[in-house]
Amino acid sequence: MENEPRGLLISPIRDGTVIDHISAGAALTVLRMLDITGQTDEELSIATNVTSMTSGHEGKKDIVKVSNRELSKEEVDRIALISPHATINIIRDYIVVEKKGVEIPKFLSGIIRCTNAGCITNDNEPIKSAFEVTEEGLHCLYCDTVITTNPENHII
Ligand code: CTP
Ligand code: ZN
Repeated sequence: MENEPRGLLISPIRDGTVIDHISAGAALTVLRMLDITGQTDEELSIATNVTSMTSGHEGKKDIVKVSNRELSKEEVDRIALISPHATINIIRDYIVVEKKGVEIPKFLSGIIRCTNAGCITNDNEPIKSAFEVTEEGLHCLYCDTVITTNPENHII
């Protein structure tokens, strides 16, 4: 509606990281990838399915704000598996001091479950899964299975 007031859905943060332009509905998966659980004592804001204007057309997106923390490159790149258009904004003293995209990593460790039930990483051994990301899909370094389906379906 034209005259509908548009307030800020979630407040700006002083220091930390804003993960913006997350695919609509994927915020909770992003939190899981950052190992943030219901037991967290971190200051977080999450917005899901908010209206966003991107290159002139309206769409929906999710946003996650984590105060007082900057994420490692490995952490942010995991997000690329489910939200290739996410942006990472580093905030210091309310100012966006850095903005960058996410890149799909070449290797994934302990994030995706191998689809081969017989794979050693699915035994009750303390062995983390390990995949090389190739053109064909995710290649398990233990059993050579190649996962070609959406990685979001195989997140641990
Ligand atoms: N943000 C925040 N707290 C701040 C500054 C910015 O939470 N102190 C958030 C904004 O709400 C936005 C994101 O960080 O979700 C990026 O901020 P900014 O670059 O100012 O917004 P845009 O120009 O709209 O970014 P883009 O072009 O990447 O969409
Ligand atoms: Zn395997």
